[in-house]
Amino acid sequence: MSNESVMGSSLGGDRVFPPSPEFVAQANVADAAIYQTAAADPEAYWAEWAKKLDWIEPWTEVCQWNPPHAKWFVGGKLNVSANCVDRHLKTARRNKAAIIFEGEPGDSRVLTYQDLWREVNKFAGVLTNLGVTKGDRVTIYLPMIPEAAIAMLACTRIGAIHSVVFGGFSADSLRERINDSKSKVVVTSSGSWRRGNIVRLKDTTDAALDGGACPTIENVVVLSRAIDPTMVRMVEGRDHWWHRLEESAPRLTEPVAVDSEDGLFILYTSGSTGKPKGIYHTTGGYLTQANATFQWTFDIKDTDIFWCTADVGWVTGHSYVVYGPLAAGATVLMYEGAPDWPARDRFWATIEKYGVSVFYTAPTAIRSFMKWGTEHLEKHDLSSLRLLGSVGEPINPEAWLWYHENVGHKNCPIVDTWWQTETGAHMITPLPGIVATKPGSATRPFPGITLAVVDEEGNPTPAGKDGLLVIQKPWPSMLRTLWGDDERYKNVYWSKFGEKNLYFAGDGARQDEDGYLWLLGRVDDIMLVAGHNISTMEVESALVDHHAVAEAAVIGRTDAIKGQAICAFVTVKEGQTADEALIKVLKAHVGVKLGPICRPDDILFTAELPKTRSGKIMRRLLRDIAEGRALGDTTTLADPSVVSGLKDKYEQSE
Ligand code: WT7
Repeated sequence: MSNESVMGSSLGGDRVFPPSPEFVAQANVADAAIYQTAAADPEAYWAEWAKKLDWIEPWTEVCQWNPPHAKWFVGGKLNVSANCVDRHLKTARRNKAAIIFEGEPGDSRVLTYQDLWREVNKFAGVLTNLGVTKGDRVTIYLPMIPEAAIAMLACTRIGAIHSVVFGGFSADSLRERINDSKSKVVVTSSGSWRRGNIVRLKDTTDAALDGGACPTIENVVVLSRAIDPTMVRMVEGRDHWWHRLEESAPRLTEPVAVDSEDGLFILYTSGSTGKPKGIYHTTGGYLTQANATFQWTFDIKDTDIFWCTADVGWVTGHSYVVYGPLAAGATVLMYEGAPDWPARDRFWATIEKYGVSVFYTAPTAIRSFMKWGTEHLEKHDLSSLRLLGSVGEPINPEAWLWYHENVGHKNCPIVDTWWQTETGAHMITPLPGIVATKPGSATRPFPGITLAVVDEEGNPTPAGKDGLLVIQKPWPSMLRTLWGDDERYKNVYWSKFGEKNLYFAGDGARQDEDGYLWLLGRVDDIMLVAGHNISTMEVESALVDHHAVAEAAVIGRTDAIKGQAICAFVTVKEGQTADEALIKVLKAHVGVKLGPICRPDDILFTAELPKTRSGKIMRRLLRDIAEGRALGDTTTLADPSVVSGLKDKYEQSE
């Protein structure tokens, strides 16, 4: 990586937002000494957190590190569902709402911890009756409904390993994940609501399984939703209605004792090659860190209503819709549908309806809200909010400030949380009662996490220099391996720095003079333009900083002279004219903000950017378009027509 950095003012580092004295006074953790305490002895610190869980048998060793393989709380035994449900029944939380559900059509349900306990017990009985036992894999292909959490917890109750597949994935993706995990059972629903339409999940499941394409699947459990049950095709002997199976299942299933290092779940993420990676998480360490980060990052109180807008099909949904909140005995909101259905104020209406106090969403959603305009927020009382969170990609300062002003009304701290499917839980985030935030910086590691920014040789980079983010010590919720492919696990995450045993996160980063961490996007998102290191994110940030721009995606296109040329795909805000004049203005704007070498060579206006179903801009596809290549794999794309439209447009513009 070149030493020359052209990152600068547009990252927004000039503004600092300390927590208010009122926030500090009530914060779960307000003494900055915790950072030193945890750093002095991370294992002792994590053991304190682990002790907050219920263990059936205590561990004998906190951490066993045989690089690159870690074990945490070795010899300990526990049960996740007992920790997330049963133990709260012995307290005043028994009658507290565990899950508040808002369906897209407006149907609503509240499950108390007692209700959740009853449902998890019953469904654990269903799985047992279907022959599922400890260590077996169960694929869960469900929408954002309480049964997704119930099915996950039921698996943990009997020690089965779940593999949740996002409900928006295709039959091919589902089949590939079922076969890689060798699941015995699929749990799905007949349908689900999305923008007023019915998504027919059972049909997709059938398409995945048909013709014996998934030989390990013995049974399919189907929850009835959104479709008249008589209109659903059920394969005799293979497919069963959830409610029917419950009629003949035992009402009680005792939680089994699971080893701390037994499998909890597999979650597939896309890799740089075509084949998805099965990120494998185990029990004790994962639950410890999910619980710790949930309680401290979000400053959770018993009175909070926490809403994480992520789907349970992503790790954010695993850790901050299900395991973190329920281990902590919190109240979590689950919403089934789209943010703009039936209107663009749905999220704000929902926050007002339930009095949501802590709200956690993604920068891509925030940029959509910006594009839609503040009138949708102004219709609603958002005064219940007291803390906001961001996750999924670097948040550009413009979006951060908009979120702060228009959603938080300038009195909610914002926690920008950096982590990955692989890390299982937050790794870099402010503690909101301690750390003053800077828009666009995820600030500093969570206590007990040891990481650094290094150069290509693995040596720490000085302040202000771009480098690579590495994690130096094992952490409780780290992935243990890639399911069925330990070689790939070693290659992808641990081979880059060899003997140094550093976890290579794949993200570029920089630490400023105050020690704040600035994430710069995936390292493959860094452009080399005429020998200069330019982050795609930085140019995007500068573009979005212009009042006419709603969203921008920037890629480096191969250029004979400069190595790479900067190519920007831009969507404009409602009411703006996307024309030649604006192209000139925007090029000049970026030039002024970042310096002339950062001026985009091409700017292309488009109505939509191609995104994965989890909301990440698919830069690889944009690169293919800009370089005139045949389009690669588009299976994870939310709307494939976006790409073909863009390709036609780009060709015309040349
Ligand atoms: C990648 C991991 C973590 C759950 C959702 C994504 C990027 C994530 C941030 C952030 C900058 C971020 C990184 C990371 N990322 N959060 N706050 N600031 N970048 O999980 O799909 O495994 O993606 O998302 O590039 O490596 P994932």
